[in-house]
Amino acid sequence: MRAPYYSEDPSEILSPAVIANPEPFYAKLRKTRPVCRVGDSGAHLVLSWDLVEEALGREDDFSANLTGVVMRGESGHPSIFDMRGTGAIQVIATADEPDHTVHRALLQPRLSPARIERMESRIRGWVDRALSPWLAAGGGDFAPIAERIPALAIAHLLGLPERDVESFRIWAMMGGDILAGDADLGRLRFLSEETARMFDYLGRHLDAADAATADAPDATLMAALARGVADGQIDRATAVGISSVLFGAAGESTAALIGSCLLRLAASPSIADRLRGSMSLIPRFVEEVVRLEPPFNFHYRVVRRACQLGGYDLEPDDRLMLSWASANRDETVFEAANEMRLDRRFPKNHVGFGRGAHFCIGAHLARMEARLVVEAALSRTTRITLDDAKPVVHARSIFVRRPEALPIRIDRAHTRPSSTRQPRRCARLATSPTLPPGREEQRHQAEHELVEERKPVGQHEVEGEGRPRQEQKVRIAKPRAVAA
Ligand code: HEM
Repeated sequence: MRAPYYSEDPSEILSPAVIANPEPFYAKLRKTRPVCRVGDSGAHLVLSWDLVEEALGREDDFSANLTGVVMRGESGHPSIFDMRGTGAIQVIATADEPDHTVHRALLQPRLSPARIERMESRIRGWVDRALSPWLAAGGGDFAPIAERIPALAIAHLLGLPERDVESFRIWAMMGGDILAGDADLGRLRFLSEETARMFDYLGRHLDAADAATADAPDATLMAALARGVADGQIDRATAVGISSVLFGAAGESTAALIGSCLLRLAASPSIADRLRGSMSLIPRFVEEVVRLEPPFNFHYRVVRRACQLGGYDLEPDDRLMLSWASANRDETVFEAANEMRLDRRFPKNHVGFGRGAHFCIGAHLARMEARLVVEAALSRTTRITLDDAKPVVHARSIFVRRPEALPIRIDRAHTRPSSTRQPRRCARLATSPTLPPGREEQRHQAEHELVEERKPVGQHEVEGEGRPRQEQKVRIAKPRAVAA
């Protein structure tokens, strides 16, 4: 039996009301049709925690290849835009094994927590410089600041010149535009052409990168990719494809997270005051924002062979939209799922950064960027509020949840920028639930190793119970070997 339609109106998912506030839409479906079809597009929403997790563990049935995305068809209803000609099909996030492990192993050492930690004071400096004019003006639109920090960070890691950041800011948002669901064919063709320009730019930097420096402690991601090409592990087109995925994966996502953090602070002064009083809670706050407002609402999988999910038949080439946003509010997993709680027992137990083999490789960086922005914004203000004269506008996208206009007013605190003070020691450590206070090094280590993130699909803690939950039905995926 085929899954039920998600709605009598096939276009409901593209409506401004759903895009502005998707949770009520997800909540209704999660309870009644956790797998449901998006009109006749062949795409299926997967909305419950258990089914998202089950799908992630069935790599033989569901491929990560991005062969098509939902778009608004000529009839106005959702249909599939074929991505097979775009070069984005089998690169890192969209790659299946064995290629995926090869791609991931090239990037992993350059994005390790230790390497990212070494960027902290640099990022703090960018944050302070970006915030200063905004603070001096009493606030203003925060969205460009939220976009700038992640663009600078990924440019630095790739080894691209800082002066090009304005161009990448646009390219970093483009991937999400392609996946936005609302683009028509003309817009998608334009975005494909612009993608070709971005590939050309990245290709030139790849060719200029020095593969011989790839083992240096601060080697760039481009050097690592150039080494991969020189060693015959990947071809040039794949290397360019991986660097382009990094743009979107690192840019728009983190911009969305930073924007959503500021929006929450401005909308909830009591939370802002609580965090000002206890800055060590900021990592927990960031985690709750990722859970409640995941920057990516979902990611696609494509069905490889006839099979079933949730008791419904799937055909080859059907698409799954694995909804992180819906799973993260599944009431069977989270107590008070719609509430921001800074005392959750397992704060990182959500799927905002994905789960299993494709778990976000940039999560540590994204968390750090968001923490540093929130720390700086709170310590340099006494009050943050929304500017009621102007609306908050979210990107018109079913894929990303990103404030693209974020008018904020502030009252300024008269303190020095944090980059001129001694860095606060390990505020992030407060997220580790397992070790007694004071054991900072161990706590730090434990945070990096917190099992919930890369643990095999099928194991997670149930909020409130505090023990690993084993799914009976789910095949446990083997942990992948990844170079540390
Ligand atoms: C708040 C920011 C971010 C969020 C919410 C986020 C979310 C995600 C999610 C949900 C996935 C899983 C995709 C899937 O299973 O199909 C993912 C994978 C990935 N992310 Fe992130 N991400 C963020 C930041 C970053 C950053 C900063 C980088 C790079 C520096 C990055 C690079 C990647 C890559 C390369 C993958 C694919 C990993 C793989 O396939 O092994 N992301 N991310």
